Amino acid sequence: MLSRRNFIKAGALAACAGLQLEPSRAFAGREPFRLTASAGEVRIESDQQTATRVMYYNQSIPGPVIRIPQGRESLIRFQNRLDEPSTVHWHGLRIDNSMDGVPDVTQAPVMPGGEFEYRLTPPDAGTYWYHSHLRSWYQLAMGLAGVLVVEETDPPKVDRDLVLAIDDWRLDQAMQMDTGSFGSMHDWAHSGRLGNYLTVNGKPETTFEVSSGERVRLRLVNTANARIMNLLLEARQMSIVALDGQPVKPHAPDSGRIRLAPGQRCDLIIDMVESPGHRSPIEVVVGEYAYDVARFSYGPEVRRDQLPDTPIELPDNPANKVRLPADFRHVPMLMQGGAMGGMSSAIYQGREMGLRELIGQNKAWAINGVVDMSDQPLFRVERGTAVSLDIVNDNAWPHAMHIHGHHFVDDRRPGIWRDTTLFERGEKGAMQFVADNPGKWLIHCHMAEHMAAGMVSWFEVV
Ligand code: C2O
Ligand code: CU
Repeated sequence: MLSRRNFIKAGALAACAGLQLEPSRAFAGREPFRLTASAGEVRIESDQQTATRVMYYNQSIPGPVIRIPQGRESLIRFQNRLDEPSTVHWHGLRIDNSMDGVPDVTQAPVMPGGEFEYRLTPPDAGTYWYHSHLRSWYQLAMGLAGVLVVEETDPPKVDRDLVLAIDDWRLDQAMQMDTGSFGSMHDWAHSGRLGNYLTVNGKPETTFEVSSGERVRLRLVNTANARIMNLLLEARQMSIVALDGQPVKPHAPDSGRIRLAPGQRCDLIIDMVESPGHRSPIEVVVGEYAYDVARFSYGPEVRRDQLPDTPIELPDNPANKVRLPADFRHVPMLMQGGAMGGMSSAIYQGREMGLRELIGQNKAWAINGVVDMSDQPLFRVERGTAVSLDIVNDNAWPHAMHIHGHHFVDDRRPGIWRDTTLFERGEKGAMQFVADNPGKWLIHCHMAEHMAAGMVSWFEVV
């Protein structure tokens, strides 16, 4: 089954997996990790005629997997070699507000040629990601995203630790970014910018070489602007062990399906129980089609005949050990707007505008009748207050709501701590958390175009 080329690849993968068992000391010390944003070119398909023009971190799509230790400070020196300002947001990390990477809220934009040193001391281990937070509807779509892993001090034993950044691109016939449709109000008022080309780790097809008997940890990250990824994995022995970085009771996904909204992550532990030569696809389901985006390919050797009997449960994080009280400060959040949403008007920049006028200003969405961030926060609370954001998704579209600097429980799925949760059209639910991280934090839809078109607000913890 395997060609020679695949054998070479298998060797390389095994070597990497071995290295990853070592904690990444490189970033734990005083020596900062350099993360540089620039514009350049990549070949998404190896036989591609003209390379695709992109923006990337460290000249790679996606950016490098950054591995840092839990509970200790790591320095990341961001250098902006783009010809436009940018910032880096560390999605899901409960870090100091000044390191959150939100332009004009937590820091000044990093200008072309400029630098900013991010100091990250993540209290929680798990799978996170980083991305541009400046005009992210453009910079994220152009490629400015990567995966960040916070290593457990005592991780469950696995043979391989694989990262899968799943993305979609909108490309033209020449494999160039469809730039003409950036800023399309049709996209912004509907589902956001959906791509026509799916990738895993920047490639249309990725083969992960595995061996029978191995135990593999899979870190799935949806880095797309707007597409909800419906994944279908063929694996008989798999358990979800974490969502958005936070440990959950290991459980099998419902008939192999995993639904990941933009910004969400899922950690799986899979026992490779098939025989040498077997291939197990990883598919993205779009409508009635399933696209094969990656696969496990079993090599000829057998790692072990018996499944490992070590536990797969992840150690608790401080985030998922929080106990929510019975009483909350309730904050209603009415989400309105978009095409076919029936919103007639909303306040933008202090003035009431009709939907047509808003569309003329490239705006289409409102939270509690207000478009975009205003001077006043959605709420301001004292540190330690338990907050319940009572959401009514009163429009025709799904939204992936994300809170900065905190994890929360979605009351529709008690006991699971997330930083991003999906509300389908018409759905209601509450995002409940203890506001314990001081500063000004964003709350927004992670469909980048919805955020750009107004579905963003902020709150303050004092
Ligand atoms: Cu992943 Cu405000 O973002
Ligand atoms: Cu949205």
